[in-house]
Amino acid sequence: MSSSSLQGKRVVLVVTGGIAAYKTCEVVRRLRDHGVEVRIAMTTAATRFVAPLTFAALSGQPVVTSLFEGGSPEEIPHVRWAEWADMLCVAPATADFVAKMAHGVADDFASTLSLANAAPTLVAPAMEDDMYRHPAVQRNIATLTGDGVAIVGPATGSLASGRTGPGRMSEPDEIVAAALRVLRHGVIAADLEGQHVVITAGPTYEALDPVRGFTNRSSGRMGFELAREARWRGARVTLVAGPTSLVPPAGVRYQPVRSAGEMHEAVRSVAADAEVAIMCAAVCDFTPAEPADAKLKKGARDRIDIPMVRTADILASLGTSAERPFLVGFAAESSGLREHAVEKMECKNCDMIVGNLIGGADVGMGGHENEVVILDRQGGEQQVGRSSKADVATRIWNAIARFREQASR
Ligand SMILES: Cc1cc2nc3c(=O)[nH]c(=O)nc-3n(C[C@H](O)[C@H](O)[C@H](O)COP(=O)(O)O)c2cc1C
Repeated sequence: MSSSSLQGKRVVLVVTGGIAAYKTCEVVRRLRDHGVEVRIAMTTAATRFVAPLTFAALSGQPVVTSLFEGGSPEEIPHVRWAEWADMLCVAPATADFVAKMAHGVADDFASTLSLANAAPTLVAPAMEDDMYRHPAVQRNIATLTGDGVAIVGPATGSLASGRTGPGRMSEPDEIVAAALRVLRHGVIAADLEGQHVVITAGPTYEALDPVRGFTNRSSGRMGFELAREARWRGARVTLVAGPTSLVPPAGVRYQPVRSAGEMHEAVRSVAADAEVAIMCAAVCDFTPAEPADAKLKKGARDRIDIPMVRTADILASLGTSAERPFLVGFAAESSGLREHAVEKMECKNCDMIVGNLIGGADVGMGGHENEVVILDRQGGEQQVGRSSKADVATRIWNAIARFREQASR
């Protein structure tokens, strides 16, 4: 991901008193790798878990832990810090601190600063599963969401107590990705709250024999970023992905598949109640007609002909389904991008299509960046210049939100 546009952006990071505070050290390092300046405020409880000195060294700035007993040379530091920030991030956010934010309590430096802050805010809750499930905590998180605060996580997994469940702070990668997203595009709208979104990603693998097969260069990254953004916007996300080495985004329902046939089955079984479906996978069009049960021997032959048959057209079958979701297709073309994409949108009965040209180092299929055109069936067209796939995913969801809002008027 290019870091240039974030050079000099400023984040105030509030660390509160949970075990996960040690993971926040990594968040600071990675934000700074992107050129972001970081100032850290700690609650008194947080200082029992990680020494302020550690955060001071990692951020290169004094750490403030008290409203009245300095650390900062400024007058009224909580106000100055709030003015300084392009973004406020709370990680880990204890149940206690979430409650304070939801109710406007300001009784220490960190909470007073949070109340004085008007910049976009990101909160990464971290607590035991019973605390997280408590109706009071759920109410407070809902209040923050209603106030426009973006919530990242928590993840489900092993907890400090040795139990397993929801409440684990999101991994530093996930928090940093969300922070970069907020710094680049502003507040994350909760416009997909309560909606089910189905996304396909990656290549498919069509077996020829038990060890060989046909596939393509798709990494799955574009679809994974679309899933991550949808989750941040509040959707319940099902991600159906062909073979890829990527780690699925936190909080999405992940359904790994191999072949086009398996992908079709998986999509059919989950799409019935979906409000939006984005078919981003690079599905192989053909599959060996009769895959061999045993490894094919080369023998004496110097040529092999492999009969192939068409795979199911997943996009087209969704386009003709009775309860059709808002349907977005992808068109990867070698030339004539616009014409082919429009044709595909029409013949597959999609609402929107995202076209990208294949080719170019590190752009499009297999790369980290993409350059696309977003077309909709009302004739709308938006060019998205070369940028990270995370950025492109945000813009695609913005375009979907705009289109759906106009259509509902
Ligand atoms: C060992 C230990 C671990 C704790 N971990 C958490 C935690 O992960 N999440 C949480 O909400 N509270 C946790 N607590 C409780 C908080 O530290 C406590 O509620 C404290 O008052 C929070 O203060 P703060 O919100 O000002 O940082 C933990 C307490 C102890 C003793």
